Amino acid sequence: MSYNIAVDGPAGAGKSTISKAVAKKLGFIYVDTGAMYRAIALYFLEHPGNMADGQALEKSLENIQVQIQYEAGAQRVILNSQDVTEKLRKEEVGNMASRISAKGAVRKKLLSLQRGLAASADVVMDGRDIGTTVLPDADVKIYLTAGAHVRASRRYLELTQKGETADIQQIEQDIRKRDEQDMHREISPLRQAEDAVLVDSSDMSIPEVIDRIVAIYREKTGQEDSDGSIVG
Ligand code: DC
Repeated sequence: MSYNIAVDGPAGAGKSTISKAVAKKLGFIYVDTGAMYRAIALYFLEHPGNMADGQALEKSLENIQVQIQYEAGAQRVILNSQDVTEKLRKEEVGNMASRISAKGAVRKKLLSLQRGLAASADVVMDGRDIGTTVLPDADVKIYLTAGAHVRASRRYLELTQKGETADIQQIEQDIRKRDEQDMHREISPLRQAEDAVLVDSSDMSIPEVIDRIVAIYREKTGQEDSDGSIVG
């Protein structure tokens, strides 16, 4: 049986940075489900018009194949046989991912891929509905959040450090819009699962958040670190 840690939370809460580090510390695989939605969003950005109505959308989905591979421990996203990993982090892709992820047919398409990965390995999986829908029996559930302004500042830093131009006010506006969409959609909205532990990282450093989650994992499962040392 594999161990599953579910990390949900709003855009820019640090889920991927934290989940990646927790996975490394525990010897787990990190699964970024947002990247799967982003891959489908990329397809629709490159093929506009196919989203026009429900039927057209479902028809387009038949032409989309998303696969996950791991290279040196890092997740690669393959869209129709092409590695699109490097194209997924742009804001326009994230905003489109938020829109298309409200569609039931899109969510259904990715669910078995996500569950299959979690069944085959110890994973830290992050997203919006992992603890509530994808892995309701996950061993550990974390709801990771931070204030909208803090999240916008972090995203701004991430983009500018990569040499991209960014407008912090626009980012905060997008984040608030994305929160609204992700939390209020009909299917699988973002919300804290009843048995999830709330971690507000607004005033926490990255190492503090990582240690907190590893400690929660240890408490809940009584497991040790992958190198045999007690974690925490
Ligand atoms: O975590 P992210 O920013 O890469 O996610 C992009 C969008 O994908 C997000 O705004 C909502 C959607 N998403 C989702 O609906 N369910 C998930 N499990 C992961 C992401």
